[in-house]
Amino acid sequence: MDLAALKDELARFGTNNDACESERGRRMLNITPDTGEFLSVLVRFGNARRVLEIGTSNGYSTLWLAEAAAAIDGHVTTLEFATDKVAMAGANFARSGLHERIELVHADAGQWLAQADEGCIDLLFLDSVRGQYAGWWPQLRRVLRPGGLLVVDNATSHAEEMEPLCSLLAADAGFATSLVPVGNGELLALRNA
Ligand SMILES: C[S@@+](CC[C@H](N)C(=O)[O-])C[C@H]1O[C@@H](n2cnc3c(N)ncnc32)[C@H](O)[C@@H]1O
Repeated sequence: MDLAALKDELARFGTNNDACESERGRRMLNITPDTGEFLSVLVRFGNARRVLEIGTSNGYSTLWLAEAAAAIDGHVTTLEFATDKVAMAGANFARSGLHERIELVHADAGQWLAQADEGCIDLLFLDSVRGQYAGWWPQLRRVLRPGGLLVVDNATSHAEEMEPLCSLLAADAGFATSLVPVGNGELLALRNA
C-alpha cells in the first residue's frame, strides 16, 4: 500500500475515533501530521539510525519515524504495553511495507529501558504517560548517546504535567533544550556530545 495513503487513513481514523471515545485506553492519541513531518526532518538531518519510540499506540507516529529511518538505512524500536494497541500497530506495520525497519516491542517502557545498553539510541521520541517521565529520566539519559536527541510530545498542550521533566532538564548541564511550537508542542533536549 502507498505509505502516504496509509498515513492519511490512520490520521483520519485517529481523529474520528478519539472524537467519540472518552475512555483514554481506547483513544489513539496520535501526533499531528505536522509533528510527523517535523520528526521526519529531525531523523534525516541528525542521521539518526537508531530510533526509540516510547508509546506506539496504533503506530501512526512510528510510520513517520520508520519512513525517515529507512531513508538513511536506520530502524525504529517502538515500545507499547497495551495488548490491543500492539495488535493494531502490528497490522498497520504489515500494511506499510516498513515492517523490516520496525521492531515492535510489547513491554513496559520502564522495564525495557532498565535493560537497554548505555548510549544505544540516536533519537528518542517520548509520547507515553507524562507522569512517568521524571521517574524514567536516569534511564532515558543513560540510553541516549552523547550528541543524541530526546523529543517529547505534548510539551505545550500538557505543560503542567511536563514540569517535573523540564525541571530535571533545566538542572542538567549535559543537555541543551528548545521548545518548538509544532503540533502539541515538541520539547527538544540535545545530549551534549
Ligand atoms: C499518546 S499514545 C502514543 C501515540 C503514538 N505515539 C502516535 O502518535 O501514534 C501513548 C501510548 O503509550 C502507551 N503506554 C503508556 N504507558 C506505557 C508504558 N509504561 N510502557 C509502554 N507503553 C506505554 C499507551 O498504551 C498508549 O498507547
